[in-house]
Amino acid sequence: MSDNAIQQMKQAVAKAAADRVKSGMVVGLGTGSTTAFVIQFLGDRLRNGELSNIAGVPTSFQASVLAKKHGIPLVTLDDVEKLDIAIDGADEVDPAKNLIKGGGAAHTREKIVDSLAEQFLVVVDSSKLVQKLGSTFPVPVEVLPLAVTPVSRALQALGGRPELRMGVKKDGPVVTDQGNLILDVKFDDIPNPAELEKTLNNIPGVVENGLFVNLADVILIGEIVDGQPCVREMR
Ligand code: A5P
Repeated sequence: MSDNAIQQMKQAVAKAAADRVKSGMVVGLGTGSTTAFVIQFLGDRLRNGELSNIAGVPTSFQASVLAKKHGIPLVTLDDVEKLDIAIDGADEVDPAKNLIKGGGAAHTREKIVDSLAEQFLVVVDSSKLVQKLGSTFPVPVEVLPLAVTPVSRALQALGGRPELRMGVKKDGPVVTDQGNLILDVKFDDIPNPAELEKTLNNIPGVVENGLFVNLADVILIGEIVDGQPCVREMR
């Protein structure tokens, strides 16, 4: 799949998701390249008067910067009890709508925000669809810096192969918005994602992992059919 086709799919699915937001809604703003388009389209709809009185809850520093740039008013989780909708991307989606997230190291805040939404809407291009979680992407695990070595050992004991995520155009490891580190953990097989999600979070020093099980309500998929970008909903 060419980069251009992927961009077209991302834009199409982002537009479809932004169009589902209604005036007055509190909206979780996801992180990543697909939700960057969602935030841009929400800003466009606010500016042209199609939408009014929405408030965004950002899932990362990136989402917050983009929301400000595109004129979306922001609130925090201290200001709202729940969200009407959260729109977020994913790195893998299986047929049961379970996800791997955290390719942008934002999964901890994403899980908090996405789980508080009445509807958690996931936006992906078709390259993210897998039969089994873990087949193309490692599971990102956010870890307190002081616990990286013992957590790595515990992950190996579970059959995982952890790798400390390193920065791009920055020497040293990726540091999350919370000041923690990321271990990307490759598993040969994830027979029970729900169990692994809980097991990983039970390791002392782990803040949160990127398995999102039984959380997504709607998956919108951008794809190219007959050369044209289009969007379908996973059934
Ligand atoms: C951020 O940490 C991730 O969970 C993203 O939501 C995920 O990586 C999807 O990103 P893209 O939309 O850039 O593929």
